Amino acid sequence: MDTDRQLEELAQVLRQSRRVVALTGAGMSAESGIPTFRDALEGHWADDDPLALAAPEGFARDPERVTRWYDQRRAQCAACQPHEGHRALAAIERGVETDGGAFMLVTQNVDALHGRAGSRGVVELHGSLARWRCIGCGEEREERGPAFGAYPPRCEVCGGIRRPGVVWFGELLPTESLAIAQEASSECALFLSIGTSAVVEPAAGLLHLARRGGALTCEINPEPTPASPLVDWAIAAPAGQALPALAAKAFAGT
Ligand code: OAD
Repeated sequence: MDTDRQLEELAQVLRQSRRVVALTGAGMSAESGIPTFRDALEGHWADDDPLALAAPEGFARDPERVTRWYDQRRAQCAACQPHEGHRALAAIERGVETDGGAFMLVTQNVDALHGRAGSRGVVELHGSLARWRCIGCGEEREERGPAFGAYPPRCEVCGGIRRPGVVWFGELLPTESLAIAQEASSECALFLSIGTSAVVEPAAGLLHLARRGGALTCEINPEPTPASPLVDWAIAAPAGQALPALAAKAFAGT
């Protein structure tokens, strides 16, 4: 079935679904100019070891390197703009809710682009680059300004080292956010998996919860993933193209 036909079918289901969950990953932000993790050439993990930069042991070994890397990503993401796909997902949320349904956007992304595009109540499973937490006293604050310049940054309250408020490998996801996402996935009628390689748990498991609960499922990703053979529609297109087309087909004129 060609992409346009898939989107037509999906739009029809989307219009009728009262509970919709969308899960996004790094591919969602690729068209905003933010590298993914697992792209063989340009992904973060093509050059850097995830355990050195995204794990507690890497931070313990070299807090200066780790905090500099995340702070540079914070500055990079702040300079990037949401694209048409981000805005379309916000429009889909409004469309579902206007029709009396419930929409939940769950993201593995830490770049805050969904919120900037108008999505509300985004469940940030892996935290946010904008939040930094003291490992001494636990004080957490939002950082929206320029890059720190000195690493590791220090806590203004106790002088301890501050770390980015993101979830690293080997760490637990925020309990409440994960529970909300799992419950919504189990109960939804339609689950959209967008721009994720679908390999990192527990986020990848949300699709399985949705299927077990009887939901129809869709993937939007130019490349195949382990989720592709499982979903009802595997749409092999970039998010920046597929989502605006889907929003227009489902909710144009509403
Ligand atoms: P990955 O880098 O693993 O996967 C990105 C996916 O996006 C790939 O499957 C690409 O094919 C797809 N993609 C690329 N461009 C796209 C586009 N324009 N539209 C749609 N899809 C596109 O990123 P995640 O799945 O988000 O965790 O990775 C999950 C987690 O692993 C991340 O949150 C991060 C990482 O290590 C931590 O740092 C803890």
